[in-house]
Amino acid sequence: MLSFISQSTNGFRRLFSRDLDFLIFFVTSICNAKCGHCFYWQNLNAADEGFALEDIEKLARSMPNFETLLISGGEPFLREDLPAVISLFRQENHIRNVSVPSNGILAGRTTRLARQILEENPGLNFTVNLSIDGFAETHDKIRGVPNNFQLTMNTMQQLLELREEFSDFDVWINTVICADNYDEVISFARWMRGNQPIGGHFFEIVRGEPMEPHLKSVPPAKVREIYETVLPIQEAYLRERLERQGAATGRRLWREINGVGALAFQYHTQYTNYAENRRWDMDCLAGDTIAVIDYNANVRVCELRDAQIALADYDHDFSKLMQDPVMQTERRVAKSHACDCTHVCFINTTLQHDWRAKLIHAPFRYAKYRLMGTF
Ligand SMILES: C[S@@+](CC[C@H](N)C(=O)[O-])C[C@H]1O[C@@H](n2cnc3c(N)ncnc32)[C@H](O)[C@@H]1O
Ligand code: SF4
Ligand code: SF4
Repeated sequence: MLSFISQSTNGFRRLFSRDLDFLIFFVTSICNAKCGHCFYWQNLNAADEGFALEDIEKLARSMPNFETLLISGGEPFLREDLPAVISLFRQENHIRNVSVPSNGILAGRTTRLARQILEENPGLNFTVNLSIDGFAETHDKIRGVPNNFQLTMNTMQQLLELREEFSDFDVWINTVICADNYDEVISFARWMRGNQPIGGHFFEIVRGEPMEPHLKSVPPAKVREIYETVLPIQEAYLRERLERQGAATGRRLWREINGVGALAFQYHTQYTNYAENRRWDMDCLAGDTIAVIDYNANVRVCELRDAQIALADYDHDFSKLMQDPVMQTERRVAKSHACDCTHVCFINTTLQHDWRAKLIHAPFRYAKYRLMGTF
């Protein structure tokens, strides 16, 4: 009960805070796939060596404590010192959650590094999000890698075995909805739910400027149908997680309402932005509560915006860099609704810090979903 009250208090405090709590860090530009939908394709396999560990250490020391680190890339598990990078942020910034998306092509290496991360960071909530965009033929075509589906399934099996040893570890799936898979996303989501004991499944409408622009053509009605169908599936995953955590009834109910409300609100925001170009019901907090660091040690307020500043210009001091006039302008633009988008990380992080969205809009979307089955 006490932890329930303290968690609610933390959540309440967060509503009025603008402190950083989510960092997206592209740890490498190296990748072993060629996905047609990739938003990062122009940065991949760059000639320069990227962000050195000693500079990452300077960066972490200059940053405040924050809650969640989302690693990205390139393929993050191709960076051999990934466990050291994560341990640095754990020690310096007391992060509580780390998610690493992966194409899952290299089972042995991924499982070895995941184990090392878990052994070096007891108590850290660590999730690997394997990217799978559909059944074998579709997935392999989108990813440009023969046999990619089977390789990723092998990685999933190994990681699920690792989960038996570490209670703070989980394995989720991330599916990007695009022109080449929208007709099978629903059956794929049901198959995953029925056949694989994963912890959860994300669904993202393709965003940004992918390598193959035609992949952005997904009929809005199909997007709505997918979101409405996967919401109850995601609710079932959430219930299962809460049961595994053995939460008391009141806390479980609170988390369920929050979790499902956030999902319904996220889908409403994404769908109306995608289909009708509608603005968000809140001002994006890119550059305040969430920021992006690229593989080359440049900082941006958001993954979808170009303006960037090199950490080297500020001797890797993140807090000083964020005071640069360019960053201040970027924060203002983000809040002005000039570039509202479908990016899930920014929608969710902003939701957690916006009292109107959290206490009015998300509960309204939850009620609508409960009563009418839609968002
Ligand atoms: C850029 S990748 C980096 C990690 C790793 N290489 C992978 O594919 O999982 C991070 C996540 O973004 C997803 N993604 C790639 N392009 C996307 C796009 N245009 N829109 C939304 N998500 C995308 C990937 O499928 C993956 O789950
Ligand atoms: S989505 Fe991931 S695996 Fe695919 S090309 Fe981009 S970085 Fe590589
Ligand atoms: S609204 Fe979207 S594009 Fe604009 S700053 Fe926020 S996340 Fe980036």
